Amino acid sequence: MGQPTTAKRSGNPIPAPHKISVAITVNGSETKLEVAPWTTLLDALRDHLDLTGTKKVVITASAAACTVLVDGRRINSCLTLA
Ligand code: FES
Repeated sequence: MGQPTTAKRSGNPIPAPHKISVAITVNGSETKLEVAPWTTLLDALRDHLDLTGTKKVVITASAAACTVLVDGRRINSCLTLA
């Protein structure tokens, strides 16, 4: 990953938000990630851990192709922040 990008509003640069550290356990293996605060669990799994078995079909709560188990409960990973 490169330097955080900045956007400009009214000519003033807006600093990009810092990444946050998260520790998640997937299939019994704990992993630490540095992700943007808005990263969904689905994107963390697919884009950061290359676990592409969880699918992003549509961005609504009806497809459920992104369903994962978290602490024994079914959730839509596209609607959950990492
Ligand atoms: S990708 Fe369809 S509900 Fe999450």
